[in-house]
Amino acid sequence: MQATLTALVAKAQTDLAALKTRPEFEAAKARLVGPNGELTALMKQMGTVPKDQRPAMGKLINETKTALQALLDAALGTIEAAELQAQLGPAVDATLPSPDAGPGTYHPLTLVREEMCRILRKVGFTVADGPEVETEYYCFDALNTPADHPARDTQDSFFFPPTARFGNVSKHSPDEKYLLRTHTSSVQIRTMLKGEPPIRIVSPGRTYRRDTTDATHSANFHQLECLYVDKNVTVRDLKALLDYIFGSLLGKATKTRFRPHYFSYTEPSFEVDLGATHLPKVKKEWIEIGGCGMVDSSVFAGVGYDPEVWSGYAFGMGLERLAMLLYGIDDIRYFYQNDLRFLKQFA
Ligand code: DAH
Repeated sequence: MQATLTALVAKAQTDLAALKTRPEFEAAKARLVGPNGELTALMKQMGTVPKDQRPAMGKLINETKTALQALLDAALGTIEAAELQAQLGPAVDATLPSPDAGPGTYHPLTLVREEMCRILRKVGFTVADGPEVETEYYCFDALNTPADHPARDTQDSFFFPPTARFGNVSKHSPDEKYLLRTHTSSVQIRTMLKGEPPIRIVSPGRTYRRDTTDATHSANFHQLECLYVDKNVTVRDLKALLDYIFGSLLGKATKTRFRPHYFSYTEPSFEVDLGATHLPKVKKEWIEIGGCGMVDSSVFAGVGYDPEVWSGYAFGMGLERLAMLLYGIDDIRYFYQNDLRFLKQFA
């Protein structure tokens, strides 16, 4: 009987190690230690063992039982670990580079922004930056748009509560309200207050207006602003620069057109239309792209520039609109959805 018990443990060891699934395990367990199993059968033979050998045999049976239980526990542990692994999927080393990442690509808005800055750098403009959280002064007042000015109505704004504090955004006076800038024109003021003319800056950036999102509107969009201040600057210079930048970006066939308009910070003011029917998907003869004009003397006076000495032009335009024209995109929402199928087209 002793030999049978040892053989039972040895066989169990090999059999259990080969188990892969829970049903296999349950079957093996029943075969070994179940009520109709091999160990139980051996225990039933105790009656045939001579009396004096029974204590030793009983001990041996108990040891066998413990050994079998340990083997069963180990086998179950292995199966459970395999089940967990199957649920988790193949082993992942999160520190390795993603296998399907490939080289990154630039966002179409980044491509247009960088291309416009490159085009403007070629003619002496430098890139200027300004905060997206602005104060009323830089966004409106300094641009000749005081609180009661009707022109404020055209730019529905996101204001912060009076308790909001942005220590890194300098205020012009202590009790101004903060808002998300509605246009990049605020950078004109920050730039002029920082330095002396001549000035030639381009300032691309994110802007915000209270708007309901649809194919052509988004509450969060991007603009590109330019300011040029020097002596004897004329509307002709402005028109020439616009012809140059749009010709460079969209092709020589591009036409520009001024329509008289009103902006409180320029006089005269125009809206700029682009004629770009050579581009794919452009159906309309003229497409509005931005606003511009000659810097108003009151704006110069406000930043301490003598309007008798200095003159300048400024313009602002939507980057999304430019990218939509250039790439034939017909819905502004594609820019913000982060859909790789869209983004990968600009690789
Ligand atoms: N800030 C205007 C807007 O967002 C665009 C604009 C018009 C910018 C005239 C200018 C300008 O610099 O001179 O609609």
